[in-house]
Amino acid sequence: MSRFITFEGIDGSGKSTQARLLADYLSSKGTKVFFTKEPGEGKLGEAIRNEILDRRDVDIQPYAELCLFCADRAQHVRELILPKLKDGYMVICDRYYDSTLAYQGSGRELDPDLVFRMAVASSLGVEPDVTFFLSIPVEQALLRLKDRGKERNKMDEEPFEFHSRVDEGYRQLIEKGVPRIKVIEASGSPEETQMEIRRFFE
Ligand code: TMP
Repeated sequence: MSRFITFEGIDGSGKSTQARLLADYLSSKGTKVFFTKEPGEGKLGEAIRNEILDRRDVDIQPYAELCLFCADRAQHVRELILPKLKDGYMVICDRYYDSTLAYQGSGRELDPDLVFRMAVASSLGVEPDVTFFLSIPVEQALLRLKDRGKERNKMDEEPFEFHSRVDEGYRQLIEKGVPRIKVIEASGSPEETQMEIRRFFE
């Protein structure tokens, strides 16, 4: 049985909604589920999220941004993910190190080898069993973000080209044939997408 599940996708792909729906569904079936996300869990995580995504008076340099996301992860793994896995929980995490590969590696166009080494190091050897990648055209995802009307963070405000590079980064990863990554068609309704995800738990 999969114990560590991650959700990935570009902003506006509906990944957070789907991750929560799956967590609620599996809990209702009696599974002990711990739902979490990156960045932003725990006291340090909250502070880091605020610095990276909400602070407008500092122009965070791309390598500094990479280090901050990795710091968030290293703390998150030690403080929450590992203890919950050890306590027998299924952990469902909204974003994990594939986000670093796609956003900092492809989106920010940083040295891919360095990004890979840092992303893997920050996970302290804790690999997801299954990763759901929510696949949606970039145009549609950005329209969803606009319609959602929620407060936008700094990443959401990046131009179309940035989100396209992030999408391309995810797709390159998938093309490498990483078996844990399951591609989910996410351009339909939330219900349709959720049904596709639940098939993996039948
Ligand atoms: P979200 O919580 O709305 O998904 O926002 C988190 C943002 O941070 C999202 O735009 C993706 C970005 N991000 C990275 O750039 N690198 C990372 O390693 C992670 C975890 C997230």
